Amino acid sequence: MSGARFVSGTSSDYGVRVLVVGVCSLKGGVGKTSVTLGLASAALERGLRTLVVDLDPQGDSTMALGTTASRGDVSMVLDAPSPQAVEAATAPSSWADHGLDVLVGSERSVLHDRIDDSDADRLRQALSWADGYDLVLIDCPPSLGGLTRTGLTACDRAVVVTEPGLFAVMAVGRAMRTIDELRRGPAPSLQPLGIVVNRVRARSVEQAYRLQELQTLYGPLVLTPSIPERAALQQAQGAAQPVHVWPGAAAAELADVFDQLLDRAMRAPRR
Ligand SMILES: Nc1ncnc2c1ncn2[C@@H]1O[C@H](COP(=O)(O)OP(=O)(O)OP(=O)(O)O)[C@@H](O)[C@H]1O
Ligand SMILES: [Mg+2]
Repeated sequence: MSGARFVSGTSSDYGVRVLVVGVCSLKGGVGKTSVTLGLASAALERGLRTLVVDLDPQGDSTMALGTTASRGDVSMVLDAPSPQAVEAATAPSSWADHGLDVLVGSERSVLHDRIDDSDADRLRQALSWADGYDLVLIDCPPSLGGLTRTGLTACDRAVVVTEPGLFAVMAVGRAMRTIDELRRGPAPSLQPLGIVVNRVRARSVEQAYRLQELQTLYGPLVLTPSIPERAALQQAQGAAQPVHVWPGAAAAELADVFDQLLDRAMRAPRR
């Protein structure tokens, strides 16, 4: 464990207000948690005080961030948002001594996945009590149900993650339409940050075709660089370590990609 390495800047480089970024996709397994963790790793490296909200009932980001005991979890926050519930549900990540916290995930959060926008504002309200962060990252579950809608309603920016395959590319359209619909409803400050293409293999003709298709459909909303498929990402996650401290050239390449994606996110105007 290396602890936080605050090396290349402070929150003041980006302004003082918190930025809330949701990471979502309709499809499962495309890399939402991996993107959330990669951005958290980049933010930690940069000295940004970051909160990861684990909205997925699977609790993958809570586990990969090495968070153990907390007195509460995100389902309690969604049941009844209050400053006390937020404090009880927030625990430090084992990645660092300070600078990275987790709003702990829970299987029970699935109870909030029904589509009923009367609850959609609860996380946004709760985050108003999560003081002292420069960046909040929300790891959404693999659906566009109530939990993801609640997550995105709390966001300034949404990142849609996809793989460069047929079905995943089709799912991007639905995610973008949901973001648009939320913006016209309960989330007026929500904007798409863009589409992150994950698990890219250099020599796949089919993937190159799907990447081209995404660029034709979404133009500059397709964020660069895309994320290559590298075993180092799984290894770092399995060891509950940030990719920025994982050894080897592949991890360094991934770290550089997440640094660039974080820069892109932090340039977005704050609320
Ligand atoms: N770029 C990559 N290179 C190698 N493995 C990857 C990459 N991105 C994701 N993976 C692996 O793919 C699996 C699924 O990724 P991840 O859990 O991030 O997806 P997800 O969208 O969060 O899934 P879910 O929908 O279940 O929440 C994980 O084992 C992860 O380590
Ligand atoms: Mg996940």
